Amino acid sequence: MIDLPTIPVAYPLARYQNSKDAIQQAIFGVLASGQYILGKNVEAFEREFAEYHGVEYCIGVANGTDAVALALKSCGVQAGDEVITVAHTAVATVSAIEYIGAIPVICDIDAQTRCLHPARIAELISPKTRALLPVHIYGHPCDMPAVMSVAEQYNLIVVEDCAQAHGAMIAGQKVGTFGHASAYSFYPTKNLGCFGDGGAILTRNSTIADQARMLRQYGWKERYISATAGYNSRLDEMQAAILRVHLPYLDAENERRINIAARYCATLEHLNHTYLDFPSQKRIYPPSIAEGIRHVMHLFVVECADRTMLADFLGRHGVGTGLHYPQAIHRQTAYIQRLRGADTLPVTDELYERILSLPMFPELDDASVARVCAGLEAWYAYHHHDLSQ
Ligand SMILES: Cc1ncc(COP(=O)(O)O)c(C=O)c1O
Repeated sequence: MIDLPTIPVAYPLARYQNSKDAIQQAIFGVLASGQYILGKNVEAFEREFAEYHGVEYCIGVANGTDAVALALKSCGVQAGDEVITVAHTAVATVSAIEYIGAIPVICDIDAQTRCLHPARIAELISPKTRALLPVHIYGHPCDMPAVMSVAEQYNLIVVEDCAQAHGAMIAGQKVGTFGHASAYSFYPTKNLGCFGDGGAILTRNSTIADQARMLRQYGWKERYISATAGYNSRLDEMQAAILRVHLPYLDAENERRINIAARYCATLEHLNHTYLDFPSQKRIYPPSIAEGIRHVMHLFVVECADRTMLADFLGRHGVGTGLHYPQAIHRQTAYIQRLRGADTLPVTDELYERILSLPMFPELDDASVARVCAGLEAWYAYHHHDLSQ
């Protein structure tokens, strides 16, 4: 039972409360081992996470931003190369591109998947374009077969940003296994999270894996000897040990998220059918889910033209909401008017006026889900009452 006056959008403390003994044991095990950086737990987690995806290589790194940056660089993206991505993502996606000196170019999204629109990529390709960086935003897979066919046609590298989509699938194939490499974040609120920072790169290619392994530790090929100029971006033993506790529960937790989402969707569909004369401005639209995919509901993001009023209303009913994100990247001070492609993003721009995230985490119990649904029902009843006066 989430015994809080307002149900939060995410609640990583619940993950600790649910697995306290195992977590403490894992942490004490690391403390007693005397090995704190790149030891047995990192190795074992890398093996287990690679196996979970059915790929050959996993390289643990310090966080998801580094995972994106080092994955791009390991695939051969160099300073001055252009990388096509989206403005509808965590700022980390774009900052990772610039971290290695590459140039982000922004493509619009598909209104259904809310991910990189495969049909919009070609118009942005220039002689400098080297890679595509699709983001499986909110847990909904990007249309990877279509992205891969554009990449093949133009001979481009593909790195998938899977920070919000651990375990998501397209026709039974996990995201993170389509591109040349993929990047994961284990930030505490993620579908697979640790209790600090953590990240990983996946690939099937041994050259890319070797490169990533060198880059994460000063470019060392052997201890103290740098074969290339690198970074310090290591996954630490404690976080790896914590991730090993949580990984076996990832599928069940994703299933719980999917069940919660189904309850929210059913409630909204029922309300939208019941209140036929309800003003479109106030209607709440659930996310659309493409055919044949597994959306792992990292975030449950509805659309509503009056979303600020809706957020206030739900807040007064004890339901927390969030904005993911308050501004698209090309509208933020750091990036405004300097990203190629960002002058024509009609779908991205429209979406940012309408999005609102509802509580979504696997420990959300049925009573709390019912409280969220009651808040949505109250919104419809309140405004319907308004109309009838
Ligand atoms: C889509 C996306 N990419 C990259 C990242 C970066 O991950 P981290 O915060 O672990 O650096 C995040 C997490 O915030 C994310 O949501």
